[in-house]
Amino acid sequence: MRAPSDARRRVKKLREEIAEHNYRYHVLDAPAISDAAYDRLIRELRDLEERHPELITPDSPTQRVGAPPSAAFATVRHRAPMLSLANAFEEAELDAWERRVRTALGEASIHYVCELKIDGAAVSLVYKDGRLVTGATRGDGEQGEDVTPNLRTIPSIPLRLRTTRPPALIEVRGEIYLPRAAFDAANAQREASGEPRFANPRNAAAGSLRQLDPQITAGRPLQIFVYGVGFAEGVDLRTHWETLRWLREAGFRTDPHAARCSTFNEVREYLRTWTERRATLDHGTDGVVVKVDDLAQQAELGATTAAPRWALAYKFPAEQAITRLLDITINVGRTGALTPAAVLEPVRVSGVTVSSATLHNEDEIARKDIRIGDWVIVQRAGEVIPEVVAPLPERRSGEERLFVMPGRCPVCQTPVERRDGEAVARCPNPSCPAQVLERLYHFGSRDAMSIEGVGGRLLAQMLEAGLISDPADLYHLTKEQLLSLDRMADRSAENVLDAIARSRETTLARFLFALGIRHVGSHVADVLAARFPSIEALMDASFEEVREVPGIGPTIAVSVVEFFEQPANRHLVLRLLAAGVRPAPGAARVQAPGGPLDGAQLVFTGTLDRWKRGEAEALARAAGGVVTEGVTKKTTYLVAGASSGSKLERARRLGVKVLTEGEFARLVGEA
Ligand code: IVH
Repeated sequence: MRAPSDARRRVKKLREEIAEHNYRYHVLDAPAISDAAYDRLIRELRDLEERHPELITPDSPTQRVGAPPSAAFATVRHRAPMLSLANAFEEAELDAWERRVRTALGEASIHYVCELKIDGAAVSLVYKDGRLVTGATRGDGEQGEDVTPNLRTIPSIPLRLRTTRPPALIEVRGEIYLPRAAFDAANAQREASGEPRFANPRNAAAGSLRQLDPQITAGRPLQIFVYGVGFAEGVDLRTHWETLRWLREAGFRTDPHAARCSTFNEVREYLRTWTERRATLDHGTDGVVVKVDDLAQQAELGATTAAPRWALAYKFPAEQAITRLLDITINVGRTGALTPAAVLEPVRVSGVTVSSATLHNEDEIARKDIRIGDWVIVQRAGEVIPEVVAPLPERRSGEERLFVMPGRCPVCQTPVERRDGEAVARCPNPSCPAQVLERLYHFGSRDAMSIEGVGGRLLAQMLEAGLISDPADLYHLTKEQLLSLDRMADRSAENVLDAIARSRETTLARFLFALGIRHVGSHVADVLAARFPSIEALMDASFEEVREVPGIGPTIAVSVVEFFEQPANRHLVLRLLAAGVRPAPGAARVQAPGGPLDGAQLVFTGTLDRWKRGEAEALARAAGGVVTEGVTKKTTYLVAGASSGSKLERARRLGVKVLTEGEFARLVGEA
């Protein structure tokens, strides 16, 4: 049945009004109505749509969240590659870039645009006839993941462009980020629920975008700043500055601090100002992007395979602060490694309160001569985990204490060991409660068995209550047992059991990684899983058999074989299998068995024209090859780009086949 025309008109009017308020709120930062009044408009629209479902369109503001969770992300090939930026860490590098730009453009007058480099995750948004059709992550620059349903949940991304005559096709690029306060809140919440903290705002943004369930993304207050157009048909833009204005008018948020500079001195001034002022921003920023404004000049300058020549990222120096080192505590990791951590008097560093920092290991503390009670310089480089840079010995009172690594594990009291040549002290007791907990935590983690909702706190509770003592016990938990735990409700217990049950269907690669064998990270696990048909086969493999796998060195091979020689480890694997865990063979993630490079071991050297090194390596892996660093007799191909040096010589000496870039391209089907 057709909706009455007054309903149709009202729906249209409401959508226009809502879009305009959205724009005023998110882009202009100048809301014209209260939140309550806005909610009333949304409610009225929702009511009308409920009564007349035929009026619902995908770009209605009520339809942002609603897509069901998906099983995996599809791959999207970007119309034009999403390049990265060349970096400058010092003014001298900036000056050198300016000289190159000036020389390349001759005497032409050059204007620049300065923008803050937002610390988040890059995305591409494609609009066809004004409607958002695809949103994707950057991925490797050539192809990303289709995260459209997730991006649609971000209120500041327009579902429809505001222009009356939208271009036939436009790809807008920008950075998704989590505002600082939301980042801190998310971390506090993760800590409380026993999950690991996000190391930096970029991880937080990328992690939120890569959720299979858009509902989860919708729950995170993500934001976007757009900074460019990747591809457009039917818009006539002459400068970057004009592009930013066009984007703003079309309904996008652009960095309000962007500035057009007509001299390079203004650029220098901008950098100085923002180096000081960046802590006042409500989002992470790790530098300033300087861009040549004129698009014709940009085209003239062109790009290398990795980055445009018309833009440069000037990185801020790592921000530091001074505070007191109150104590040094010891964390015991999964492999028994004892890691010292600094307990600091809380201090703000680049806008974030820091109260703990890593100290790496005993030797590092001695080398830096850090003492308990010292005033120390703390640094957050690139917004990662803070570290103690150095003490200020001139501020010592004489009461500071030297740090001594305890002779016994602080958790289980077993005497610690430090092997020759290793910087790390270890608790050698595999039953140490700290190690048991960390192993369990690792077992269930995302890249391992991916047992959702079973975090550190819950595992610690289960251990303490004696419900489990190793990963296999997880599969025998009952609802009654879970309900006996503090603050465990009926529904949560069911969710936990479901998540554990679901994890039974897994891949050999994940299973291997989950076992926590030393030196077997997720990549090595992939490589092994691609070579061994089953866990049983790997368990019974000899050192030579493991060592023969391309990409596996002697250290890994020893570690794998020793792991499976231990009766306790064999027993654990058998119990897991008996509990119904079914690791499916193969390693879909990196290896493509049967590809044109199946079984080949490749080394890359020199600079390639068509790809960045990482991209070429990804192609090689996708074709079934294994990429290694050094040329040995086992190397199948050395792919040699321009200015190849010692590796090329070595390959020739060893008789390893050398491929040109073109030959490699043909082999992987990219010619
Ligand atoms: S322009 C062709 N502008 O930095 C290069 N990038 O290292 C296009 N980024 O992947 C990038 N803020 O994710 C540009 N104002 C800004 C940016 C910005 C953050 C990120 C972007 C890019 C990375 C390059």
